Amino acid sequence: MRIRLSLLLTAFLVVARAPAQEIVIGEYGSLTGGTATFGISTDEGVKLAVDEINARGGVLGKKVRVVVVDDQSKPEEAVTAVQKLITQDHVVAVIGEVASSRSLAAAPVCQRAKIPMISPSSTNPKVTRVGDYIFRTCFIDPFQGAAMANFALKDLKLKKFAILYDVKNDYSVGLREFFSNTVKQNGGEIVADESYGEGDSDFKAQLTKIKSTQPDAIYCPGYYTEVGLICRQARELGIHIPLMGGDGWDSDKTFEIGRDAVNGCFFTNHYSPDEDRPAVKLFVETYKKKYNGKTPDAMAILGYDAMNLLCTSIQKAGGTKGKAIRQALAETKEFPGASGLLTIDAERNAQKPIVVLKIEGGKTKFVTSIKP
Ligand code: PHE
Repeated sequence: MRIRLSLLLTAFLVVARAPAQEIVIGEYGSLTGGTATFGISTDEGVKLAVDEINARGGVLGKKVRVVVVDDQSKPEEAVTAVQKLITQDHVVAVIGEVASSRSLAAAPVCQRAKIPMISPSSTNPKVTRVGDYIFRTCFIDPFQGAAMANFALKDLKLKKFAILYDVKNDYSVGLREFFSNTVKQNGGEIVADESYGEGDSDFKAQLTKIKSTQPDAIYCPGYYTEVGLICRQARELGIHIPLMGGDGWDSDKTFEIGRDAVNGCFFTNHYSPDEDRPAVKLFVETYKKKYNGKTPDAMAILGYDAMNLLCTSIQKAGGTKGKAIRQALAETKEFPGASGLLTIDAERNAQKPIVVLKIEGGKTKFVTSIKP
């Protein structure tokens, strides 16, 4: 009798813990590899959001569980990661990626399966064009490239620019185009246009050519690993003008690799931890508490916002069918994200302000914020 009772009890507990009692969300990102800080920061932001959501009772009365897959900073692995999340883990939606090239690789898998995907921070315009199940919680690069060009022309009064971009990276290729278009349309000049490929470590040939054209600044829309090295090699060659970039510069590693060479440089970003907004202050404080005093970067705050928006949308949808979640996401208006108010437009992008940061004394300093 006793044995039977305990068997019954075990059976009951198993049922009570069955998957139906939780909502499973997938996340794919670069937890290792060339841009590991992108994936790690995003994951920290996502986890913080999930902890808070579950502490408030979860979504639709269920706990939220996140399954994270590392894509090793490789587009092919991003595809495999998302396939696994959908077919094996049966996730109801997917968060990822940071790098546009990897979001572009994996988005078609989500679109075909009709599983909503939110990229927290991929900014290349092509990402959400993959289809109507693909969203993002950040601005896009035509705005980002134009913002830096206008800032350099109007605020810094610079005229002649060189570009050094990563040909293997959709994000970098896009920003090169958007930046140079705005420069040319506003009376500026592109005097050099040089490239490299992700993983390169010697940029002296390109920088020597650039130096001979005597630009006022170098626009360098790449990721932190190469950008840090480029800054150092530029200084070694006696190039002392500012280098400028986009959100791809946002990593502690930029400072670690670039050291003194990054001082005097500028980059555009999604937020600054120094901003005086209450939502930013609260986020920075909670994040620091959870992660041993670490200051959150842009990926962390966008990962946090993406997860909160997703859970709010699932709650609004009243269920976990892909179509219903997609619909709720598409209807997002003025969602109070920590990084700012979030409205999803007809192209499934977010319209948000951008900040310009200057690097001084090995730290970023908030310079200005530009409205969309
Ligand atoms: N916006 C970059 C891309 O699309 C990724 C990125 C986002 C990098 C935020 C740093 C910070 O590839």
